[in-house]
Amino acid sequence: MLNFAIQTARDAGRLLAERFGRTLQVTNKSELDLVTESDLASERLIIDRIKTYYPRHAILAEESGASAPEDRETESEWLWIIDPLDGTTNYAHGYPCFCVSMGLQHQGRMEVGVIYDPMRDEMFTAERGVGASLNGRRIQVSATRNLGGALLCTGFPYDVRERSEFARHFANFIMNAQGVRRDGAAALDLAYVACGRFDGFWEEGLKPWDVAAGALLVEEAGGRVSNYAGEPLSIYVPPIVASNGLLHEQMMHVLSV
Ligand code: IPD
Ligand code: CA
Ligand code: CA
Repeated sequence: MLNFAIQTARDAGRLLAERFGRTLQVTNKSELDLVTESDLASERLIIDRIKTYYPRHAILAEESGASAPEDRETESEWLWIIDPLDGTTNYAHGYPCFCVSMGLQHQGRMEVGVIYDPMRDEMFTAERGVGASLNGRRIQVSATRNLGGALLCTGFPYDVRERSEFARHFANFIMNAQGVRRDGAAALDLAYVACGRFDGFWEEGLKPWDVAAGALLVEEAGGRVSNYAGEPLSIYVPPIVASNGLLHEQMMHVLSV
């Protein structure tokens, strides 16, 4: 199933890359939340593939929601959690920072996670208990011990204008960390924590498809993922803080003030 996810994410990523930079039909889900024809085409490709190879598996995908297996008599133990294009606003503006994210749960536990960045041809993969890799090479979180030396990343939720605590957290992090980035693709942000490019990441309003694969990647690369109180992450309940583990308490402290 890992190989299936890799192949499917690669094909969906290629589809996104081929259409990147062309004039797109963009629809607004809300004032700030967009969907392009590429989100829909990528999702269609992924769902068709899953239905062909794993017709008994359930699917939770951003643009079409939850779908039960074809054979509705069987409660599926397997659930694919899909973001067909993470970083839609970037994509729609021609900013080359976006990815495809596919996570697979078995009986409610994440088992496989794949994040593919077609612009850099970077394939991040994780399998529970086996580890995390980038283009087939083992990856690990960073060894940064102090927030003052850390490069962090966050995301601005689409409803940021209604979230005053976000500005406070952001201000506190820029005053305490070496740097803070906002790349606009949460799944890729988590993959970058897993491979040590970022030392930590936090965000408040994410959805299961934003974090399913990335959270497993961070854990399998030796890092830690939790909610702001340090409790185990539920992908259905934001917020999320992810780090190399060494910085986790320091990050949670900043998020508590
Ligand atoms: C968004 C991106 C962004 C995050 C938003 C997400 P989308 O996903 O991951 O970084 O800040 O909260 O909704 O809409 O581009 O798939
Ligand atoms: Ca997303
Ligand atoms: Ca998306």
